[in-house]
Amino acid sequence: MILKPLQMTDQLRTGVELIDRQHEEFFARANQLLKKCNRTDALNENEINQTLDFIWIYIIEHFATEEELMNNYEYPAVEVHKRAHASFKKRYMSYREQIQKSGIEQDTMKKLMFFMRDWFFRQIVTHDIKMAEFLKSEIKVNTGLKARLQELMSKFFPSA
Ligand SMILES: [Fe+2]
Repeated sequence: MILKPLQMTDQLRTGVELIDRQHEEFFARANQLLKKCNRTDALNENEINQTLDFIWIYIIEHFATEEELMNNYEYPAVEVHKRAHASFKKRYMSYREQIQKSGIEQDTMKKLMFFMRDWFFRQIVTHDIKMAEFLKSEIKVNTGLKARLQELMSKFFPSA
């Protein structure tokens, strides 16, 4: 079965540009993995491990961005959101351990892709959109937050 690429849709847009752009970057990285897994020839272990690292690095940066904003601007549901991040990291790591132990198998890669897609979809719809609503209302009264978002935008997306 061919896995479909992850895509930004209106339903997944939070309205905070930084967060949406980071999600799109995550989708792009996950789709690189997908492309490698959808190939009919043998999976290239090195290539896949590199892509898994590439995704991991971005996940860490993305979660850290959201957590910084939630902590610094006193988002009430910060703990629940952080727990969700921690649980994603744990599951992702356990997939990596499994891959390390038994090698790269189509089945494991598919499970990992499904997990990532499912998790991100739910996470955005249930947690990120709420966090974004908070940030959007906070931005109106907090010039520090506005400046910080701009600063992070130019750090992550220098050409924007
Ligand atoms: Fe997010």
